[in-house]
Amino acid sequence: MNTEAPRIVDPQSDGSEQIDNALRPKLLKDIIGQNQITENLQILIEASQQRADALDHVLFYGPPGLGKTTLAHVLANEMNVNIKVSSGPAIERPGDLAAILSNLSGGDVLFIDEIHRLGTIVEEVLYPAMEDFALDIIIGKGPSARSIRLKLPRFTVIGATTRLALVSSPLRARFGAVYRLDYYDQNALKRIVMNAARKLEIKADESGVEEIARRSRGTPRVALRLLRRVRDYAQVRADGTITEEAAKEAMSLLSIDRLGLDEIDRMVLDTIIKKYDGGPVGLSTIAASISEEPDTIMDVVEPYLLQIGFLSRTSQGRMATNLAYEHLGYPYREKPSQPSLIES
Ligand SMILES: Nc1ncnc2c1ncn2[C@@H]1O[C@H](COP(=O)(O)OP(=O)(O)O)[C@@H](O)[C@H]1O
Ligand SMILES: [Mg+2]
Repeated sequence: MNTEAPRIVDPQSDGSEQIDNALRPKLLKDIIGQNQITENLQILIEASQQRADALDHVLFYGPPGLGKTTLAHVLANEMNVNIKVSSGPAIERPGDLAAILSNLSGGDVLFIDEIHRLGTIVEEVLYPAMEDFALDIIIGKGPSARSIRLKLPRFTVIGATTRLALVSSPLRARFGAVYRLDYYDQNALKRIVMNAARKLEIKADESGVEEIARRSRGTPRVALRLLRRVRDYAQVRADGTITEEAAKEAMSLLSIDRLGLDEIDRMVLDTIIKKYDGGPVGLSTIAASISEEPDTIMDVVEPYLLQIGFLSRTSQGRMATNLAYEHLGYPYREKPSQPSLIES
């Protein structure tokens, strides 16, 4: 499988989307969908403003492309404070974190993306910082080493992760608010696409927008990327307007089917169904059979297939459901209730 080719429906950022910054909602009221989260955030913001205190530490988790980074920026914006952006893998040593922390002003937001990738020793510096707004620094080496405690201003950590399970429980416990972002429904996606089309001055009719929304796997980042690709198609092969027909043709050229599945999704399902008789089969085995990274399958492919009911997860591995068989056009036969143990 050619892993070099960028995946059109990859919900992870490919870095070519600076244009998205113009599309990124700046205020809570501009966030489309995720109503329960935005309502909770509104309360969080107002409460901390009334107390004239920094916002509580907030953790966002959920699949890529759903708005975690966007919400972090919106929160800082609404609170009218600075945001420092970093990430788990970027903060390698305790000293890196100490440098960041000692440069924060009162109320500032420190956004830590991929927070599950913070190292343990770095985390240990973060705990007292989050809890007591204190930075413990060790001076000297060996038996004469001593620790001094620096006071930090009250600040806010906003963490984001695609893997809540990999965030250590002491770290999780230090977040006052934890929100799970879920896939968006059709209606919200339609509004997101429509909004973006208007801002980018792309002509699109309602059924064209619907077609894009339907194939964007519940993910705003995918919806916006599809919008750009379909716009290109409409521009080159039609009169520039995104119609249902243009959207369908453009996406069939991109091998994105009517549910938004692309070749990787279909290969995963195909492997489970044809090679492993529908499963159960372990994720690493699937990944190896199609030469993909297990992480990609875990973060990007599997959550959506689970969401639309094409996969089920059992203790023995992943199984394809009859919906998946139907979608790919394979006959489904009921398995005996005793599943064969292929891999744990
Ligand atoms: N609720 C939303 N309304 C409008 N656009 C959104 C929304 N959520 C995300 N987006 C857009 O989708 C893209 C991906 O969002 P991002 O916050 O980077 O996702 P994540 O950090 O979860 O991977 C951004 O370009 C953003 O503008
Ligand atoms: Mg992000």
